[in-house]
Amino acid sequence: MTVHSSQTPFLWGVATSSYQIEGAVGEDGRGPSVWDTFCRRPGAVRDGVTGDVACDHYHRWREDIDLMASLGIRSYRFSIAWPRVLPEGRGRVNTAGLDFYSRLVDGLLERDIVPMATLFHWDMPQALEDRGGWRVRGAAEALGEYTAVVARHLGDRVKLWATINEMWCVVYHGHRDGCHAPGRRDDEKTLRQVSHHMLLGHGLSVQALRAAATGVQVGIVHNPAVTEPFSESTEDIAAARADFHRLNAWMMDPLFRGSYPAAEWDALGDATPEVHEGDLAAISAPTDFLGLNVYFGAGHIQAGGTLQPYGSHHPRTDRGWTINPDCLRWAARFSQDLYDPPVIHITESGCSYPDQVDERGEVIDWARIEYLRTHLAGVARAITEGVRIGGYHVWSLMDNFEWGLGYQSRFGLVHVNFETQRRTPKASAAWYARLIASQPHGPRVSP
Ligand code: FCB
Repeated sequence: MTVHSSQTPFLWGVATSSYQIEGAVGEDGRGPSVWDTFCRRPGAVRDGVTGDVACDHYHRWREDIDLMASLGIRSYRFSIAWPRVLPEGRGRVNTAGLDFYSRLVDGLLERDIVPMATLFHWDMPQALEDRGGWRVRGAAEALGEYTAVVARHLGDRVKLWATINEMWCVVYHGHRDGCHAPGRRDDEKTLRQVSHHMLLGHGLSVQALRAAATGVQVGIVHNPAVTEPFSESTEDIAAARADFHRLNAWMMDPLFRGSYPAAEWDALGDATPEVHEGDLAAISAPTDFLGLNVYFGAGHIQAGGTLQPYGSHHPRTDRGWTINPDCLRWAARFSQDLYDPPVIHITESGCSYPDQVDERGEVIDWARIEYLRTHLAGVARAITEGVRIGGYHVWSLMDNFEWGLGYQSRFGLVHVNFETQRRTPKASAAWYARLIASQPHGPRVSP
């Protein structure tokens, strides 16, 4: 296990994911993913668009990482498309797919950018879904096998690995609400089973990484729901921490405590998942970091009360997400208080606005600058409060395919014209570059 210290350089980064930026879905032997299938379902994605081309990053990756280098980005969190590496999900390895990531990683290292690779950011091979997807135990084993293949090829150069991105979204958006691939509406027991298989997949992936590569740091990326304290009183903070635990224990306790929360387990009755002997030991094997993706808060609470929503007039981004600048601070603080991971990386943080290139050819996205500035103040505050935070990654490097919202939701520091593929760095990109240059060791409360 790597111990975080204040000497470790702060990872100022940006994040993307494979299906959202790569395009080239039929090239060099890539197999179909559940998102290719889902996008073709009528009405599933806004405007009926797909990730077939997206940001065409598969062909433009050099330009994209040059752009990152020009901004002084220190860390790039990207994901590997499982169906590029194993087109059928298991078995046959597609070397051309691995070569793409190998070139990308070399390019990053040449530009002095730390690669942080996510193994599963939602684009499961369709062939695995056809065999039951995350509803069956085989998916967890398959994630372990796929991890072994990737780690053998990239583990000499990639030292930071995230196993799974936001499994909550796969369980609830993918299998309950049907608004994400694979677009299902499963019952409670199945949802809990999917969740268990994903946790197990994480555990098997950690094992595979440790076996195949040396000196790697491994973690999972979660998007916890964050209850904010009504005030800074000790009692309100304790109430918020307890509520944070209530909301997130199902997916966090098994990882860090090796057990499911007893009261929630009991309340499920017949809907509890099937758990094999040894599963929880695999799931709770020590990791090196916890990745947190936090965009908004769930509400606030005072001692003795219950979770309260923010109110209809609360400031929001263009997709309706409330703006809660301290949500990262509390997410990180409560995660450390409850689970004590060696270090926390903010693996995604950002906002979407309907950014446009103006007549001068510029994109003035002051609202994004405000968002990042105020949320980073929360991160800085958490650091002064003793929370070990090792990095911050803006979602996203560039506007991209935003899942069910298609291309209408722009999260990038860089504007993308999806007709011409022209990239235009927004004002926020220049601002972020200056911030990184002026605070190389991480965000500070005041300069
Ligand atoms: C997160 C996802 C990421 C992106 C952002 C806006 O839930 O991990 O892929 O869609 O939201």
